Amino acid sequence: MQKSHLFTPGPTMVPGDVALAGAKDMIHHRTDQFKAIYEKVAKQLKVLFETKQPVLVLLGSGTSAMEAAVDAIVAPGEKMITFNGGKFGERWGKIGKTLGCVVHEVQYGWDDCADTAKLEQALKDCPDAVAVFCQLNETASGIGNPVKELAEVCHKADKLIVVDGISGLSAMKCPMDEWGLDVVLTGSQKGLMLPPGLAMIALSEKAIAKMGGHPARIWYNDLRAALKNDEKSTHAWTSGVSLYQQLSVALDMMLAEGIDNIIHRCHVQGDAVRAAAKALGLELLNAKSPGDVLTSILMPDNVKASELAKYCRGHWGIYFAAGQDDYKDKIIRIGHLGYQDHFETIMAIAAFEMAMKHFGAEIELGKGVKVAQEILMADLEEQEKKAASAG
Ligand SMILES: Cc1ncc(COP(=O)(O)O)c(C=O)c1O
Repeated sequence: MQKSHLFTPGPTMVPGDVALAGAKDMIHHRTDQFKAIYEKVAKQLKVLFETKQPVLVLLGSGTSAMEAAVDAIVAPGEKMITFNGGKFGERWGKIGKTLGCVVHEVQYGWDDCADTAKLEQALKDCPDAVAVFCQLNETASGIGNPVKELAEVCHKADKLIVVDGISGLSAMKCPMDEWGLDVVLTGSQKGLMLPPGLAMIALSEKAIAKMGGHPARIWYNDLRAALKNDEKSTHAWTSGVSLYQQLSVALDMMLAEGIDNIIHRCHVQGDAVRAAAKALGLELLNAKSPGDVLTSILMPDNVKASELAKYCRGHWGIYFAAGQDDYKDKIIRIGHLGYQDHFETIMAIAAFEMAMKHFGAEIELGKGVKVAQEILMADLEEQEKKAASAG
């Protein structure tokens, strides 16, 4: 017998109720029945994104929303500033070039983060850029970026700010309206606990106005058309009906838990994994600015991350992600987002310790688990105290 336990930073585990919702009888998307689901989900997505703006749902993985965002915000020949501290930051630049934009890329090491000093410099070097593109969490490294501060600089410089929250949203704070973000987007297979296949994107009034100033270069995910159809609670094409039914259940679960509680859960589990790695004498790639989506642990020279991931998957059905590009065998990425409870996090740490031992790393079994247990217990006690004082 072997179960699947996904600790990858997407796809993540899918709750049973969400999986079952995908098996409901098919309904037609041009019906009042589907319209009711559309309208319910539209309201709930506004709560998740913390915005009054419409949140558009696209049929496609998260990258489809990244492409749609570039198309909407940057006209051909216009300049865009992108932060590239990993695979997904790099993707902004690739999409921009494909769509005929002039890309000013701020590139830095995967152990570093976007920050206001880098942004100020980029704005000096590229003063006529129309927008700044960044990640809330760079999944290749586990680095969380200071989006609120970056947005403040963008506001002063009168630039639009576009945030890829594909892994970050619903694991880390990102209130769209409060922080004045112009575009926020995410994907279904991470914090939202769904299978891959949907992307969601919201645009500020300013972003909508900018989008209206140039024609689309993409057709399927043209947000101008999507926005018009959204006013009628419909899509131009066949809606992803089953995924929508799943999204509806997942959002019910998320709103019942509370967005801030979910973010807190991810943070506490992140603290546990980070502390466990340190207790085992290991360093983190994302130590400078750890996002709460995943922890990237640097491997000792004698352990190859891809082999460790394969071993855990093969023996226990436990999925970790190895690194990408230059970090392929150098880091293990352990996710702490989505449908993951505290004891699953303990399991992840226990499996990680056992696999490390198997590959000859000098670690003491249980040392990481113990500090993680202490952190999770302290949090439980804290929560109980809060609940008691709230009556
Ligand atoms: C931050 C970030 N951006 C973009 C992507 C790409 O999303 P997708 O693979 O859903 O197209 C990912 C996926 O891991 C991601 O984590």
